[in-house]
Amino acid sequence: MTLEQKIENKSAKIGIIGLGYVGLPLMAAFHRAGFPVVGFDVDPKKISALHEGRNYIEHLGTTLVSNMVKAGRFDATADMKRMAEADVLISCVPTPLGRHLEPDLSYVEQTADDIAATLRPGQLAVLESTTYPGTTREIILPRLEAKGLKCGKDFFVAYSPEREDPGRSDHSTQTIPKLVGGIDPESGRLATLLYRKAINQVIPVSSAEVAESAKLLENIYRAVNIALVNEMKVVLTAMGIDIWEVIAAASTKPFGFQPFYPGPGLGGHCIPIDPYYLTWKAREVGMPTRFIELAGEVNHAMPEYVVRRTVLALNERGKAVKGAKILVLGLAYKPDVDDVRESPSFELIEKLEELGARVDYNDPHVARTHKMRRYDLQMESVPLSPENLSRYDCVLVATHHKAYDWQIVADHAKLIIDTRNALRNVKGKRDHIVTA
Ligand SMILES: NC(=O)c1ccc[n+]([C@@H]2O[C@H](COP(=O)([O-])OP(=O)(O)OC[C@H]3O[C@@H](n4cnc5c(N)ncnc54)[C@H](O)[C@@H]3O)[C@@H](O)[C@H]2O)c1
Repeated sequence: MTLEQKIENKSAKIGIIGLGYVGLPLMAAFHRAGFPVVGFDVDPKKISALHEGRNYIEHLGTTLVSNMVKAGRFDATADMKRMAEADVLISCVPTPLGRHLEPDLSYVEQTADDIAATLRPGQLAVLESTTYPGTTREIILPRLEAKGLKCGKDFFVAYSPEREDPGRSDHSTQTIPKLVGGIDPESGRLATLLYRKAINQVIPVSSAEVAESAKLLENIYRAVNIALVNEMKVVLTAMGIDIWEVIAAASTKPFGFQPFYPGPGLGGHCIPIDPYYLTWKAREVGMPTRFIELAGEVNHAMPEYVVRRTVLALNERGKAVKGAKILVLGLAYKPDVDDVRESPSFELIEKLEELGARVDYNDPHVARTHKMRRYDLQMESVPLSPENLSRYDCVLVATHHKAYDWQIVADHAKLIIDTRNALRNVKGKRDHIVTA
């Protein structure tokens, strides 16, 4: 049976490589569509959790994995040689930055080598990880073709960017429109056919490079606009004007304006990282990326700005930051998820501690910190109660989780630094609330 026939009758086995925030829901989407799935991950803890029917990503819900296990057509393994079993291999591995803001493609390369090791005719390999234009053709294709098989004839390669937004309730993997670009027309056609079985709307584009670039444009668009409102925040705050009210006012325009919101700094695996993938690649063609670098500069200055506002607010109340007890609310980089990657809360904690503050954090989604690439804070979330709130000199709102009762925070904290406008609707006195 050809790959096309296997896709049509949903007998094609879908291998998902990298079972994190992107790979796990994608595997569930193909499984829901009726395909047999097999997940690959280097993390043995994830593989055993999956075999036990346990989900390890909080916002995906408790039944996502157990439903797959119960239904069958499901397997997970750390044995990359089993990639030979899969008809389709979709790679969702990390694409972080190196120490000098250069792309770290080691995970993508490793995955390509793993696929190449057992490549057989009739397989389709798709990269979903965010990366610079040219990665699929320049990094993946040569590794696969080194086996002597020909892309577009013997096997197929495409790029389809993941547009996952963890924690969002109005969209899921299945409802977010999906771009697909092939290395050649046949690869693009087969990949489009495949995704149309699991995703409501699939948009084929003319090449892998267009799909790679579109993903970067989406994320750079966000990074630049967030930088713009962060700059507006700093300027308007100095003028005594409330940026949040200004954004709400501008948002009443029915066309030509899309609201973006300021914050304590960028977080997550995408916006702080992906733009630099293009910056790096642009050097190859001798082009500067001034917007990207300026946006990075403005956004990276935000934690420092928030710390300065905190120090000044304490000072006005006759309190030095040295020795002050500060509680940071929210360690995750955005509301209602347990994802702490690149979260600005870590930098806020580090900077405040450097100034001599004694910092605790509370996050209903993050019970304790774990070792990360840059930080190893070894902290545990402290309980949040009226008594506990009143014990701190300052409460710094970094993430506006829905689980927080802002009225209780307002009623019991001595001083609040609010970076998210989380306390906009609280009643009673407000002179202890400082926006930052
Ligand atoms: N998280 C998001 O919101 C989001 C959104 C859009 C795009 N993306 C992109 O998707 C990609 C994956 O992101 P993520 O958030 O799912 O990352 P993640 O860290 O949650 O998951 C990656 C998984 O890959 C596994 N892995 C690492 N090396 C491997 C290898 N050689 N073989 C098999 N598995 C391996 C890791 O153990 C981990 O489970 C990145 O390129 C990211 O930029 C992420």
